Amino acid sequence: MPKSAKGHSHGKIILMGEHSVVYGEPAIALPFTAVEIVATTTETVGEVTISSDFHTGTLSSGPSSIENLKVLVKKVCKTLEQPLANFHIDIQSTIPAGRGLGSSAAVAGAVIRSLYNFFDASLSEELLLELMDVSERISHGSPSGLDARIASSISPVYFQKDSGMTDLSIELNAFLIVGDTGKIGDTLSAVSNVSRLIKKVPSKSKKAIKKLGKLALETKEALINNDPSLIGSYMTKAHQYLSQLQVSNPSLDHLVNTALGAGALGAKLTGGGHGGCMIALADTEKNALHIAQALKEAGALNT
Ligand code: PMV
Repeated sequence: MPKSAKGHSHGKIILMGEHSVVYGEPAIALPFTAVEIVATTTETVGEVTISSDFHTGTLSSGPSSIENLKVLVKKVCKTLEQPLANFHIDIQSTIPAGRGLGSSAAVAGAVIRSLYNFFDASLSEELLLELMDVSERISHGSPSGLDARIASSISPVYFQKDSGMTDLSIELNAFLIVGDTGKIGDTLSAVSNVSRLIKKVPSKSKKAIKKLGKLALETKEALINNDPSLIGSYMTKAHQYLSQLQVSNPSLDHLVNTALGAGALGAKLTGGGHGGCMIALADTEKNALHIAQALKEAGALNT
């Protein structure tokens, strides 16, 4: 049997603070372990090859959409002082790509872990994050680091660029529904749109970013106080500020309004926006199932 090693990483949900986190405001993210990436590195002879939803063949002949992986694998081999040859990487994903669920960070995390396991090398948390950042810089332009942090954490986190991350212990009596518009979002262009908007209308955009940061801080308090209604109202407010930053779109607005109409405590887009997923909060499981059904009837690809 050829030598083989696996690496895993899970998805994430940003509860509060996407986009504003890029500008130093706090954010709250939850590990979404229902979806994951499994990377398997297997010994071969010759050029590095890859099999994934985006490309199957030699790594070097991969399309620009896997440029982050090409650069990452090269960097890992250089760091490990190993030749960039004689292995195949298989990537299996249950995280839908481009939906704000952190698939690019999770792919990077799983690939790095599988390569380190394959070469029997130890991997510190610090080095993992440093290597993930190499990939995320290509996928996101100027990543806040939140996606990388949460893809390697098993507990909810409160994150701020300069002060780092603290684990949050959450005992919230509520249910979170994730609704997928089925439309691919583009985090890179959403992030650069926000940056352009700040230059064009600085005072309104900066105000929205500050408000989003304040909502993340207040949500942290409400999580500690187990107050789902308050968190719901903060989520809906956050969606309004994210809309002001022009990162929502008609599909996301439609699902957010559908969830609110079906009795959600609150709803907002999650992740980069311009497509992808939204989230809604419900007070009981019965209401959560009702909201999920309403979202599907309103066109959600999945919940
Ligand atoms: O779309 P996602 O899941 O990759 O989330 C991006 C989160 C942003 O705040 C928009 C960007 C970032 O680097 O934090």
